[in-house]
Amino acid sequence: LKKREALTTGVSSIDALTGGGLAVYDIHEFAGEFGSGKTQLCHQLAVTVQLPPSRGGLGGGVVYIDTEGTFSPERIESISARFGVEDPLANIYVFRPLSVDELEEFVVRELSRLVKGGSRLIIVDSVIALYRAQFRGREWLAMRQQRINYMLDWVKRLSRLYSLVAVITNQVVSVPSAWGVAVKLPAGGNIIAHASTHRFLLKKTGDAFLLEVLDSPRVARGASVEFRIEEDGLHD
Ligand code: GTP
Ligand code: MG
Repeated sequence: LKKREALTTGVSSIDALTGGGLAVYDIHEFAGEFGSGKTQLCHQLAVTVQLPPSRGGLGGGVVYIDTEGTFSPERIESISARFGVEDPLANIYVFRPLSVDELEEFVVRELSRLVKGGSRLIIVDSVIALYRAQFRGREWLAMRQQRINYMLDWVKRLSRLYSLVAVITNQVVSVPSAWGVAVKLPAGGNIIAHASTHRFLLKKTGDAFLLEVLDSPRVARGASVEFRIEEDGLHD
């Protein structure tokens, strides 16, 4: 059996935790509070995907869907210098949708054409922001969930069809637990839970960051690793 291709995160402890990196065909969800490292991780992956397979990359480009307007070319440049990737922005297609309609239109009409051109990674940072803004209130919840599902279904299908790694980020919501202590869980309910092959929770405590496995077919639930974030990206 041929081992499935996987993408290095550039952090060896996270690669080890995920069994060798992020696997093609799968959707990887990273949820966490603001400042927990979701966007920094996305930037790093947009660089490592360009590395040759001999160095843990997929030798391809990335389609970066930036729904929050936080993509930073400067960040990409400094991470690339660390990994020795030249002209990284040439292989990153950034799309900044301003509404759910624009996001859907792009995913349905443009994405397949773009990935055929050599992309190996799709990033949606974040999957929830536009939907939360556009579908507010209980009466819109069913519609919101249906539209999220529609979009993620396309991402999943294209990942299978073109051997891509998919990465989505998500916000968290506070949910009261049995002991009266609120716990933070990914937003978006069972639609996003179901669409994601692997779910991770990111946390920031002081200067340290933590990545915890919430759900995965391959990794023990609750397993976690620490990492750091520097000017040039995520480190062990
Ligand atoms: P939201 O999008 O607001 O939900 O947050 P996020 O999870 O996407 O946060 P992001 O990935 O932007 O992480 C921000 C964290 O990265 C900050 O808390 C900083 O600690 C760290 N960080 C960002 N830029 C730098 C930098 O240039 N140098 C260092 N040392 N740390 C940085
Ligand atoms: Mg962010």
